[in-house]
This record gives sequence, structure tokens and C-alpha cells, in this order.
Amino acid sequence: MLWHSGIIRTVPWKTCTHLSLRTTSAIPFRTVRFYSDQKDSGAKHTTPLSSQEQHGGDTAQQQASPSSAEAPSSTSDGASNHPPKEEMTPLAKHIRDSIKIQGPMSVSHFMRQVLVNPLSGYYMKGDVFGAQGDFVTSPEISQMFGELLGIWFLVQWQNIGKPSKVQIAELGPGRGTLMMDMLRAASRFKEFRNSISGVHLIEASPGLRRVQRERICGIPISEEQADGGSREGITAAVRQDGLPILWHDVFDDLPNECSLIVAHEFFDALPIYKFEKTEEGWRELVVDLEDDPASPYHLRFVLAPGPTQASKAFAEHPAYDHFKPGDRIEISPDSFRVAHEIAKHINKNSGSALIVDYGKDHVQGDTLRGIHKHKFTHVLTQPGNVDLSADVDFEYLRQAADDLVDCHGSITQAHLLHSLGIGARLNMLLAKAAAHQREILIGSYHRLVDPKEMGNVYRVMAMTPRGSPPPIGFEQQPQTETPSKSSKQ
Ligand SMILES: C[S@@+](CC[C@H](N)C(=O)[O-])C[C@H]1O[C@@H](n2cnc3c(N)ncnc32)[C@H](O)[C@@H]1O
Repeated sequence: MLWHSGIIRTVPWKTCTHLSLRTTSAIPFRTVRFYSDQKDSGAKHTTPLSSQEQHGGDTAQQQASPSSAEAPSSTSDGASNHPPKEEMTPLAKHIRDSIKIQGPMSVSHFMRQVLVNPLSGYYMKGDVFGAQGDFVTSPEISQMFGELLGIWFLVQWQNIGKPSKVQIAELGPGRGTLMMDMLRAASRFKEFRNSISGVHLIEASPGLRRVQRERICGIPISEEQADGGSREGITAAVRQDGLPILWHDVFDDLPNECSLIVAHEFFDALPIYKFEKTEEGWRELVVDLEDDPASPYHLRFVLAPGPTQASKAFAEHPAYDHFKPGDRIEISPDSFRVAHEIAKHINKNSGSALIVDYGKDHVQGDTLRGIHKHKFTHVLTQPGNVDLSADVDFEYLRQAADDLVDCHGSITQAHLLHSLGIGARLNMLLAKAAAHQREILIGSYHRLVDPKEMGNVYRVMAMTPRGSPPPIGFEQQPQTETPSKSSKQ
């Protein structure tokens, strides 16, 4: 039996009332036909979207601030009564300055700035997770999640011949909770634990690196550091049991050694481009200045009037030929590149990878959303204060990898966790739990696996060396509920 009784870590997730995970359903920011003959407001190369389009046509915006989605109007004395513009964040100013000099910005560049700009990107602030933060993720909901993934990697280590040296790597470790729980599960299996040469964390945020070090190595964050502290990221630490923990800026810096790699809610944070099919072909949606006082935002989406480098490189592909005018697609070349690097690494060094995220096995159109304080927000509101994320196209990741490794899935999170014995693990924890912990444990279990919670929305893809046995959960690929890439969205 794989399971030990171990410690019980319970998290009262019910405190999060609005948006309990980073996705419940995709919030479209387009509800109407986009093209308009509005006057050009200074954008040199672009076609503005319609007023409703600019304001999102956006259920999220309407939910967050109903009045701001109303059409601008004037009082009888001519004074405007539309809501005032929101306060401009330092990052919004920086982006506007950049647009003034260089012209409209790709959504991909905008997203990168918003999330990981070294000075004021969203993730650079530090801890944004949990009930007090903006969203909650599976590892934060229950220790069962990380423990089960730890068991998946233990079995993979056995499947690839129990290499005497293996490193564990995680992309985007957040608070470090998943790694902490995985390592605790692994430490029960002496031979596996002894083979682990080190842990490698790919993390852009210096603030989150400190949080990860605290959680994984037990080194407390000083008050000064919690308030922002130095911009310098830590690069190495040692756990009490002697295990070295190393941080890297990018996956490409991972040393060449057999690696067990996990990426949980990492790919959804990688930048995407957005394109719209028009009668003239694919056109890129870009971010431009918004100086219309009727809009609460300082930026707006516009449509490039002609092909851009990105539309030519990414959207003009036979796979997208069947789309009709008005359809949109989101493409993440960064995700393709990282998936390819992971596959290259496994191909060269052996190992395995598990990618868990929300998404589908095909390209989608309008999934980019803002998330703040457990609510969806408009994508362009408060740049730097709001998380941005987009659904993952698992088929695209597969295409990036499957000439180098065996790709499996995607399957649902529920299927993987049930295959790994989440029911048995729950029962073991319940047997040891105090009354107040039992309710939390059962609630967490349902949250992770129920189809209407995170069970089906989150999907899992695996990469293994060519010809190795199929990993747990992927032995028989269950039918995916999503249409194939070639079908209509
Ligand atoms: C949504 S959080 C997921 C955290 C964690 N995996 C979890 O599930 O709780 C995204 C993580 O990826 C990191 N991240 C985002 N973009 C990144 C990038 N381009 N390079 C490295 N890390 C990045 C963030 O700082 C954060 O740790």
C-alpha cells in the first residue's frame, strides 16, 4: 500500500465565496460583432473595436462594476455623467508610454508586462494566493493533491528503471505547497528519496521565491522581505534533510539530469496572442491607448487593419483555415516553446513531466480573463494589480512535444486523482482527523474531483520517454469531451 497516515494539513477553503478557483468558466469579452466604423482616436495602425467591445461586452466587467458598462451619457447642462476613469497604476502608465512611442502592443507583450514586469508585474509582488489573495489553487485546497502527484512521480521513477540520480523540477511553484507535499510523500519511500539529487524551481518572482523557501526549507521571511524587500531573487537554499533547492529564471537553465517535472497552473500564465478572422484574413488584436473619457480604462483593444508579423507567423496556419469571419483564436507560442524544451530535456536525459491546468484539447477564442480578489475582472483593468490567465491548448503542447517523447492525455484531473487512489487517501486522513478537520477534508476532496468543481475543468497531460510503460491514469485514454482541433469552436 502506497499510503502512510502522515500529517494532516487542512485548509478551510469555504472562506472563498466568489471565485473559488482560477477558473469556473471562461469569461468572453466579446459578445457582439466587433467591426465598427468608429473614428480613429490616434492609433496609427489599427481599427478600434466597438464601444461594447471595448468595455468588454464583458460579463466580467458588468459583474464587477455594472455602472461602468453603461453607455456614456450627458446631463442636461452638458456635463458628462459617465463614471470617472480608474486610477492609473504605475504599470498602466509604463504601458501607455511604451505605446505612445512604439504603437499598439501585442496582447502577448501586454500579458508578459502585466504578470512578470520586474518592477511592478502582478507576480513580482509576492504572495497572491489563498483566501486573502486573489485565487486558490488545488495544492492549496488539500495536501492530497500534492501527495498524489508525488506518488505519480514515484511510480514514474520506477517505470523508467529507478535511476540512481533524479532531480525534481517545478515550473511556477507559487507558494511551494505542491512541492512541499510531493516531497513529504516521496520521503516515505527511502530508495526514491535517496535518488533525489535536488529540487529545481523555475520562478520569475523574487517575492514568491522567498515564500517557497520558507515553505520548503523552513527559512522564515523577514518583515522587510514580506513588504517587498530586495528585488534580488534567491537562487539556492538547503532543506533541513540536506536536499538542495535551486531556483532558475527559465526552464532552459535546468541542469542536464534525469528529471521529474511538474507544471501546475503555469502554462495558463504564459502570454498568448489573440487573432480574429476577418473577410480579409486573420488580424491581430492589440492593446492601444484609451483616451475616451467614457471608458473607465486607460487601455483598449483594437484590431490591426492588416497582417502583423504575429498573425502571419501563428494564425495563418492550415489548422485554422476553417474558421469563419468573426471567430477568434488565442495562441501561446511561449507555451509551445516551453513544452518543446521540456520534451527535449526528457528526450535527452530521461524523466517524465506532468502538466496540470485548465484548458481543452483544441484552440479556443476568448478565454483570457482578469482575476482579482476571487472575482473575474476586465482584462485591461488595473494592470499589475490583477492576475491574467488563459485556457491552455493541450493539443498545441502535444504538437510541440510528440516528435521527442510519448505524450499522454489530456485526461481530467478527477480521472487522474481517482486513478491514484484519492478515495483511499481521504479515508486514511479521515481516520486520523479531528471532527473539525473531517468536514474540511471531505469538502476539499469534492472540490478537487467533482465534475462541477475542479474535476473536469482541470486537465492533465503527461510526457514520458519513448516506449516507457504508460503512466498511472493514462493507461486507457478516456474519451475527451472536447472536439478535435479541426472542428468548429
Ligand atoms: C497561477 S500561479 C501557480 C502556482 C502554483 N503552481 C499553484 O498551483 O499554486 C503561477 C506561477 O507561475 C509563476 N510564473 C508566471 N509566469 C512565469 C514566467 N514567465 N516564468 C517563471 N515563472 C512564472 C508565478 O510567479 C507563479 O509562481
